[in-house]
Amino acid sequence: MKKVITYGTFDMFHQGHYNIIKRAKEYGDYLIVGVTGDSYDVGRGKLSVHDSIATRINNVKNTGLADAIIVEEYLGQKISDIIKYDVDVFVIGDDWKGKFDHLKQYCDVVYLERTKNISSTQLREENFKQYNIGLIVDEPKDNQLIVESQKLSGFKVTSVFSESREVLDAFQEKYDIENAYRNLDAFWRDTDIVFVKCHLDKRADFIEQCLAHGKHVIADPPFSLDAKIHKHLYKVAKDNQVALIDNVKMVYVRIFIQLLWMTHAGMIGDIIRFNCSISKRDRSIVNLFDDLAALALCPVIKIMGKEYDAIEPNLVTSEDGIEYASITLKYPTGEASINIGNKIRVKEQLEIIGTEGTIRLKDNWWKSNYFELETTDGSEVKTYSMNFEGNGFCFLLSAMRTMLENNRTESMGLFPDESNTIVKILEYIHHNK
Ligand code: CTP
Repeated sequence: MKKVITYGTFDMFHQGHYNIIKRAKEYGDYLIVGVTGDSYDVGRGKLSVHDSIATRINNVKNTGLADAIIVEEYLGQKISDIIKYDVDVFVIGDDWKGKFDHLKQYCDVVYLERTKNISSTQLREENFKQYNIGLIVDEPKDNQLIVESQKLSGFKVTSVFSESREVLDAFQEKYDIENAYRNLDAFWRDTDIVFVKCHLDKRADFIEQCLAHGKHVIADPPFSLDAKIHKHLYKVAKDNQVALIDNVKMVYVRIFIQLLWMTHAGMIGDIIRFNCSISKRDRSIVNLFDDLAALALCPVIKIMGKEYDAIEPNLVTSEDGIEYASITLKYPTGEASINIGNKIRVKEQLEIIGTEGTIRLKDNWWKSNYFELETTDGSEVKTYSMNFEGNGFCFLLSAMRTMLENNRTESMGLFPDESNTIVKILEYIHHNK
């Protein structure tokens, strides 16, 4: 019996999929179809897949052509499958031409011409709402936002606004966005979502204007150093039925969600100590204390909770502001310390010490794709990891799309009251410096 295998995501099943499955079957007597698993797709940056794996498998089954359907769960599985199922022919579309030649040592490799003018990407774009993203900037930098939004169907950065002509020119020189504005009224017309990426002094004002114009907003935390203003912004968002989201990417990344689950499920026992450090990298910015502190406080509040008993700030200040801070939050059963190096450098790391184990994220913990768990007796160190490239912004956008599709305006990544707790801590620190 001649066995054939072919693979695909088969999202929004279309004629091109049917054709390749049918033609693959003609190469042998028994056809195995591999359907990509969700984790595998997320790991390789394919975040736009719409149909569930159950639906995708069902659609392949309904062709009546597959003798067996398997799930492709990891990079490199194709070799194991070819050996395991004793496959004679591997078939794939010619968009992959040459990419699977290394499989020729195991079986025949056939590239078939793709069906013209149809793809899952095209169907997703035709069937689902497309969101235009506008950026409000005061520096010619996009923090990879444009590249990250290109990883997902349904989002496109189409406009940029800056008050400064020089910044706008420099931004366009680098990124060449469709529309560049210095007039906000024109800017609103072209945008559904605004990323407010400007200095803290103007952040709350821009956020409020965007929300009042019915735009969904993503902005760096903190939105303000005044907890009342921060609350007010959420009210404006609610009144206008739009979303207001903190640009904290890590809370949307699977590895952090896994860490959160493990700590809350008691897998390292009771948490007695949380240490988290971060330093300013960009020397050209004089003061980044509040932005860094807000970022470091996110995992603290997510893991340790909002109910701390006391704050103990220890600050080193100069005329430029806070140069270094060690802030300790006392909880009923433990404590959390964040170390912020604004001018003074500190080594970046995140460590959660529990009665039964310690979790560690090294270096760039806010965009880490792995963490280590060491048992208390040191007998075992386990690594938990996932593949992803970039800074994780595409995961935030992906969560945002689900929110908007379901008419939900509050993020479940960082909840509004968690965001407000962070602002309250910063407010306290500034009042007591
Ligand atoms: N395929 C095809 N003709 C098309 C689309 C897909 O022959 N018009 C083939 C691919 O070459 C692959 C299989 O169908 O062998 C599964 O492709 P998949 O990536 O699931 O579908 P696409 O429509 O290419 O999806 P996307 O747009 O998300 O890349």
